[in-house]
Amino acid sequence: MDFPIRETIEKRHSVRTYAPRPLSEEDKEKLLRCRDGITNPFGIPVTIHLIETESAEQPKKLGTYGVIKGAGSFLGVVVPQALLGLEAAGYAMEELVLYATHLGLGTCWLAATLNREAFTQEMQVRDDEWMPAISPVGYPAEKRSLQERMMRGTMKSSQRKPWKELFFHEDFSTPLIPERVGDYVEALELLRLAPSATNAQPWRVVMDHAAFHFYAVVGKAALAENPPAIQRVDTGIAACHFHLAVKEKDLAGHFERQEPRSSGAPEGWRYLFSWVKG
Ligand SMILES: Cc1cc2nc3c(=O)[nH]c(=O)nc-3n(C[C@H](O)[C@H](O)[C@H](O)COP(=O)(O)O)c2cc1C
Repeated sequence: MDFPIRETIEKRHSVRTYAPRPLSEEDKEKLLRCRDGITNPFGIPVTIHLIETESAEQPKKLGTYGVIKGAGSFLGVVVPQALLGLEAAGYAMEELVLYATHLGLGTCWLAATLNREAFTQEMQVRDDEWMPAISPVGYPAEKRSLQERMMRGTMKSSQRKPWKELFFHEDFSTPLIPERVGDYVEALELLRLAPSATNAQPWRVVMDHAAFHFYAVVGKAALAENPPAIQRVDTGIAACHFHLAVKEKDLAGHFERQEPRSSGAPEGWRYLFSWVKG
């Protein structure tokens, strides 16, 4: 990715209020070119659609329950229903979200406040696929709507949990301190800034001598659901931030799913994948 990783991640925030004008041809072309080059480390084929609701002769009615104002274009992500499919969707879409941010465009991940049926139909999602989320993409309006400001306040969207609640050393209770992490401080710090549904920040990482193991904390309601959905997308997004930072620093390693490492983990933690160093 030829954009500054830290600066772009720090610049990204959810935009729910847009200037009512379509994407320029130039921005659209850049966005599509970037989209076509995106891969993911989980080896899952991810499709990202660009849906334009207004350029069609008949404007399409694809609602977001009034949460998004003024946007005419949306990105939508579709993956096969496979192990690590949702993580791959989160990873790939976030890479495009960050590139859009770099272009000066606004985005907002949406997994709940959308007319799911209409978007699913528009993208012709098959029964053996998932369409976990969409995002508007467009030019941010100068001012946020009152509803948007209230939503941000309720979810404390500008805040993130501290390191000691997210990152652990060798076991599930010893906080990982930046001094122990060496070259990986920036990657973990940028992971921490990732967006997540309701700003829940469900990702947890346990570092040992060889690897960083990624877990998702699953709420009570989702515990019955196997695999738990939205937290897996969130953890794919977090992996994208981590990986972009690691690649920028040329740190060697790869993602893999190891034998489930959940024995002794706090209630609700689900092991997803690991970043193996070297
Ligand atoms: C997977 C995912 C799903 C989300 N779904 C919604 C949604 O349905 N509606 C909404 O208004 N915001 C949604 N958000 C946006 C989050 O509320 C937002 O990312 C979080 O509050 C942090 O704020 P920030 O993105 O400005 O950093 C979602 C975010 C993610 C990552």
